[in-house]
Amino acid sequence: MGIEMNIIEAKDYKELSRKVASIISAQIILKPNSVLGLATGSTPIGTYKQLIEWYKKGDLDFSKVTSVNLDEYCGLAIENDQSYRYFMNQNLFNHVNIKMENTNVPNGLAADTEAECNRYDQLIENLGGIDLQLLGIGNNGHIGFNEPDVIFEKGTHVVELKETTIKANARFFESIDDVPRKAITMGIKSIMSAKKVILVANGSGKRDIIKKAIYGPVTPEVPASILQLHPDLTVAYCFND
Ligand code: PGA
Repeated sequence: MGIEMNIIEAKDYKELSRKVASIISAQIILKPNSVLGLATGSTPIGTYKQLIEWYKKGDLDFSKVTSVNLDEYCGLAIENDQSYRYFMNQNLFNHVNIKMENTNVPNGLAADTEAECNRYDQLIENLGGIDLQLLGIGNNGHIGFNEPDVIFEKGTHVVELKETTIKANARFFESIDDVPRKAITMGIKSIMSAKKVILVANGSGKRDIIKKAIYGPVTPEVPASILQLHPDLTVAYCFND
């Protein structure tokens, strides 16, 4: 008995976004009070645009939805346009009828980061866990900001970002020196406890890491590889640039 995964290969970014948005809408329609685990990065932007479009048409209702985001940079105020809270407000929350108080992103400005990590784990537990978790994948195989390591970190924790991640994310900042060096991220246990997981990747640059993650050995050196053990995993990608 093997664990199966669903693979969705899209012909272009638009199709990828529509398919991923369809899965998220089905989740909301079937369970209006879903807890959605959401992700930042460039890949989900098209998915969020599609969800907004369907909301505006009257096909989707976010009024009972709760969201928990995967991660946040340490040290960026929420008004900073590179903070993940800002990203979520701009790319989704401000355009649909989700209640702002039901949206959650780790607080990257918390003075006591350990207390913030515990609060976040407790919050997810109090919500009864995540119904559907959307994930991007970093070039180094990270999910959330779970960077390659010698162990899988379980709970929400503070990470030192790897040089590869800092470089990959520098494109969004004025200079590489402005990229925060630390972040707070949900751990592997919270991600693996989600009832459904959708891993998304776009562009030819992600082909090798997706192959490694879904067909290679399960190892903390490729954090996304743990998803092979998830009982309800969908991998949706488009490798055409
Ligand atoms: P991307 O980032 O969607 O911008 O490729 C994914 C990630 O680093 O998690």
